[in-house]
Amino acid sequence: MVPLAPLVVAFLAAFLYSPASNEFQSADPASERYLLLTAHPDDEAMFFAPTILGLLGRAPSDTGSPLYSLCLSVGDADGLGNTRREELAQSLNVLAIDADKRWIVDHPELQDNITVEWDPAVIANVVKPYIIQHQITIILTFDAKGISEHPNHRALPKGAKHLLSSLSTKSRLFTLTSVPTPTKYTGVVDALISKFQLYSSKILIYYDGLVTKGLERAEIIPPGSAPNIPPHFFTPVFVSGAKAYTTAFKAMLAHKSQLVWFRWLYLLFSRYMWVNEWTEVEV
Ligand SMILES: *[C@@H]1O[C@H](CO)[C@@H](O)[C@H](O)[C@H]1NC(C)=O
Repeated sequence: MVPLAPLVVAFLAAFLYSPASNEFQSADPASERYLLLTAHPDDEAMFFAPTILGLLGRAPSDTGSPLYSLCLSVGDADGLGNTRREELAQSLNVLAIDADKRWIVDHPELQDNITVEWDPAVIANVVKPYIIQHQITIILTFDAKGISEHPNHRALPKGAKHLLSSLSTKSRLFTLTSVPTPTKYTGVVDALISKFQLYSSKILIYYDGLVTKGLERAEIIPPGSAPNIPPHFFTPVFVSGAKAYTTAFKAMLAHKSQLVWFRWLYLLFSRYMWVNEWTEVEV
């Protein structure tokens, strides 16, 4: 008899091991410059690592890595601002964001505080010079629910929208999709499910491209021109493999002051350690 269980386990392990993604739709992916906009040191490791590592995992272009990081507070709610600033630097080292492409801001009106909703106009003013100077084409940040409902997180998309609507450049805004609480702690299971969905949608898109468009590289079809394919198949999503998950875990270990007991549970079970889905926001 064929030992089925070990085969299934081996298949799932192999499947889990490799990363998978649906990239941000772009006419010229190599020319995009991404700014990751976060509120506190540790957001990058706890929530955005699959995307950071997915974007940086590609072959570097002539201009180096395309990813910039801007953190809008030093996380001083408990008076640990100086420590957390240093922890962020170490975390970004682990995630391999270039040293000259990362900044942390300590602004009197943007302090880490769970009762304060930051003013979008202040956020826009602070972020603006970075967007212009580094010709950022895509801003990546929290969505209106902010994953954890933290008001500082929730203010970021408003600030980014405020800024982009005032700029003449055609930068785009994508927000990290908050999932309902029951599905927030499905970690590795969700990584498997998301990969199955991703591969099945890729096969469908590819098939659609071959059959109806006669194209060889079906993944370049923009959503509107593929009527047979549901729009959600084009949702940008980054699913980590085992290596990226381990890297995210190590990045989080750099945030020593934050490693209270329940955060270990987060690291083991959170889906954001494995899966990032993105929604484009009209500005
Ligand atoms: C947070 O903001 C509230 C209201 O403005 C203020 O009373 C409190 O002291 C602030 N907390 C910290 C840690 O700064």
